Amino acid sequence: MTPLVREIFGVSFANPVLLAAGTCGFGRELSEVLDLDVLGGFVTKSVTLEPRWGNPAPRVSEFPGGMLNSIGLANPGVEVVRKEKLPWIRERVRRAKVFVSVAGHSPEEFEEIVLRLDGEAGFVGYELNLSCPNDARRSSLPFALDPEALVEVLGRVRERTDRPLVAKLAPNTPDFPRMAGLAHQSGADGITVVNTIPGYLSRPEGGASALGAGSGGVSGPLLRPVGVHAVRSVVASVPLPVVGVGGVSRPEHVLEYLAAGASLVQVGTATFADPRAALRVIRGLDRIGGLPERDVPTAVFPEVAMNQEKGVDG
Ligand SMILES: Cc1cc2nc3c(=O)[nH]c(=O)nc-3n(C[C@H](O)[C@H](O)[C@H](O)COP(=O)(O)O)c2cc1C
Repeated sequence: MTPLVREIFGVSFANPVLLAAGTCGFGRELSEVLDLDVLGGFVTKSVTLEPRWGNPAPRVSEFPGGMLNSIGLANPGVEVVRKEKLPWIRERVRRAKVFVSVAGHSPEEFEEIVLRLDGEAGFVGYELNLSCPNDARRSSLPFALDPEALVEVLGRVRERTDRPLVAKLAPNTPDFPRMAGLAHQSGADGITVVNTIPGYLSRPEGGASALGAGSGGVSGPLLRPVGVHAVRSVVASVPLPVVGVGGVSRPEHVLEYLAAGASLVQVGTATFADPRAALRVIRGLDRIGGLPERDVPTAVFPEVAMNQEKGVDG
């Protein structure tokens, strides 16, 4: 067993559990119900150049496998983040390590946001949300699915910051080794997998969409095997720390991601059901007295170990 502390990206995380982008706002939103400093850290809501009001309601819909959302990257924009959100984080967050999630319509927007934030204190680095559509190109594929666009975003942002840069990839990437390799060559210091997977739910009474925006992104339990599989693919292909996210709600899920090779793990949707879900996960890890070096301890979590052993690969 090793202690929960993790030294990654040149900083010390008290434990490997972070809150995922878009599920904890800018920290303040959860701070009444959760002591943020018990966390390894958190990733902010994705920040865009201009404020975004988001998509029409309803924005989320549940189903037995998890949740479908189409929030539309609602956020106050980079200037409010710089003037209001980061100062709050600087004042209140002592131990948890903060990553700012960045999203843009174009590679230039990613660059501009980083340029405007980089002089500010209060956060460790950036997680690039590459799942948003690239409106600068006609195909409008998300950056994470478009090799040239991904390289351009990374290249531009790398020029503007020396902080850790983590590229967040999409679960429907047809070729994780290729996209992770390109991100690595273009200056990424780490890879986060995965973002939500595209999906559509109808209203119970008929064909109309359950969401105001039509389709959305699937998250929650259904995404866990997808995330663990993605971590395994990326770990096998690039020599970078990998952050695992998708369907984590229990300590054994963290162990499953770590056994797949993840260095850190994020909790997303579980926080909506229970704002203290990440705290429960961390306490569970504490109770087993630390983290296994690599393999999941069979005696502690037989179900997880059994799934690992089967080693089913897509
Ligand atoms: C309501 C909601 C909002 C999200 N907003 C963002 C976001 O702004 N940026 C981002 O990179 N990911 C966003 N995500 C994706 C999560 O960070 C995470 O990658 C995904 O939900 C999978 O983890 P989970 O199954 O634990 O929720 C959002 C997810 C949800 C459910």
